[in-house]
Amino acid sequence: MLILGFYGGPSTEFEAGSPTQTHDGAAVLLKGGEVIAAIEEERLNRIKHSYTAPLRAARFVMDQAGVGLDQIDRIAIPYMAGSAERLLRRMYLADPSAEHALDVADALRAQWRRYLGADVPREKVRFVPHHIAHATATFEMSGFERALVMTIDGQGDTEAGLTLKGSAEGLELLHRVPIPESLGHFYMQAIGFLGYRMFDEYKVMGLAPYGDPERFRAQFEAMYELLPDGQWRLHPHLLDGMYAQLMPRRKREPIEQIHKDFAASLQQTLETVVFHALRHYRASTGLRDLCLGGGVAHNCTMNGNILRSGLFDNVFVHPAAHDGGNALGAALSVHRSEARHRPQRLRNVYWGSPLGDGDSVETRLRAWSDFLDIAPSANVEEDAAELIAAGKVIGWVQGRSEFGPRALGNRSILADPRPAEFKGLINKMIKTRESFRPFAPAVLEEQAADYFELPAGATRFPFMTFVLNVQPDKRELLGAVTHVDGTARVQTVSREDSPRFWRVIDAFHRRTGVPVVLNTSFNNNIEPIVDSLEDAVECFLTTGLQALVVGDFVLTKKDGAPRSALVPRLPNHVRLHERRQRDDDGEVRDTFELRRAEWNGEACKPLPAPIFGLLKRIGDAPIERLAREAGLALDEVMPTMEELWAERCLVMRPQAAQR
Ligand SMILES: [Fe+2]
Repeated sequence: MLILGFYGGPSTEFEAGSPTQTHDGAAVLLKGGEVIAAIEEERLNRIKHSYTAPLRAARFVMDQAGVGLDQIDRIAIPYMAGSAERLLRRMYLADPSAEHALDVADALRAQWRRYLGADVPREKVRFVPHHIAHATATFEMSGFERALVMTIDGQGDTEAGLTLKGSAEGLELLHRVPIPESLGHFYMQAIGFLGYRMFDEYKVMGLAPYGDPERFRAQFEAMYELLPDGQWRLHPHLLDGMYAQLMPRRKREPIEQIHKDFAASLQQTLETVVFHALRHYRASTGLRDLCLGGGVAHNCTMNGNILRSGLFDNVFVHPAAHDGGNALGAALSVHRSEARHRPQRLRNVYWGSPLGDGDSVETRLRAWSDFLDIAPSANVEEDAAELIAAGKVIGWVQGRSEFGPRALGNRSILADPRPAEFKGLINKMIKTRESFRPFAPAVLEEQAADYFELPAGATRFPFMTFVLNVQPDKRELLGAVTHVDGTARVQTVSREDSPRFWRVIDAFHRRTGVPVVLNTSFNNNIEPIVDSLEDAVECFLTTGLQALVVGDFVLTKKDGAPRSALVPRLPNHVRLHERRQRDDDGEVRDTFELRRAEWNGEACKPLPAPIFGLLKRIGDAPIERLAREAGLALDEVMPTMEELWAERCLVMRPQAAQR
């Protein structure tokens, strides 16, 4: 049986701001309960947290299996039709003149008919509640026979979390967390005081170890009550009282000790409430294994503390615990109700875009030969390790891209994990992000216990979902990947499941005696993780990365290559905007902007008039020709064009790489 998991908002075009608060659209294809392909829409449309309908993703996963929509047996949707219909009605009220369907199955079927070319009979469409999808994704992939299952997020459908018992018979509901008690909403509201917002939660988690939770303990303790039977009550309105001690930090203001202390208290509050619930259900159910899902389960500091506490024998956290993973959860839920056998334990998540075979990789790389020196390699793992051991920071692209928010060795940036100064250096050269955030170590599974404190009997942590202690005698050695509190977000790498990545680390080990590399996602701070070969090359050319390994090729930047020979293109989510306004002196001025649609609004960037004019004429001509025709000198144009490229407001590719 072929099951398509399909998660995203109703929009087919990306405009400014999600109309339904949906995010992280994705599609998954299951065959006989096993994943054939899975990808988030953002990887393909290149818009972080894309909320649009996952049409590119759906096409991709079906292409991987060589099937069309008419051959799909079930389409699984991870929300309740009623919740979606409430949203559709609200949209209708807001704009009755637009075209709106009020029946969600009909709306989806019309969309599929139009964009995916098939009429799907209504009986093939299945709706799975949001938190059941979270719970199914984590339990079904855990390989545990029986487990306590807990999902925690902001909100999905009509709840903020579920606690369930998972077994061969399926999932049995123990408790629903009502929306007012949402830990996800509470956390999000609180991080506003630190100048952060949705999708920044991991930054606050990274900040917490620098802080002292004592400073705000009393205030935070007043914001929750721990009730009998593992229940809790939150008082988020008391956050308003925080203004007396902490004016919310504005973006770009410095992060001070008070912010770190606030982050520490918040982290402690989250963990106190979750532990309260877990202790109760551990005792009342007798279940010894735990599965976590929902966006809050990406808090890997919390996950590490749960693991270390010994409360459960085993803990599994789904690597795509957030809403994107619900495309998978819904599909697995439908599979269980139809087929009644469980899939195999999750071993890896290399389910995305394939890189392609050597010949096609070479042909696509050759299109960039004016900009890249391309060296075929007889042993690419050894060559990559040599570069890393020589202190280079490299891009590493192999096989199929990862499903979920972590790069796990197929779309990664790799470097030496030892020099502490690499934290700042890599942040500066590639990520342009806050330097307090550490990078993650990837370690050979066989050697993991020598470098990290693993719980008794546990050897596999392949998904970077847990923060563990670095062995005290290794903390100084692993300076670039050890956080201020002596912890690290570890990925163990298995020879069997990630053979190429394992061989790179092994080769680095032979050279340096250290079986660990620094592994961070291959992207800058604006874009989703690179997916295609072209995404990788563009990221390489617009960051300080020192080499790029793609398939069996080692690439370096060609000095002095004329970037004005590149052909610029505006991505679908970027538009040019011209407006006339009166300034303070009463004079009328024209202003020119480039606007990039984002998940929760639009980023505006003012442009000089000549560049605006040049961008208006973008077609299939290289920059040098556009500039000549506009009567502009290249040195007037290129700095802005390169900046726009680095900010992913422009795609720039050679003529031969246009697709
Ligand atoms: Fe969720």
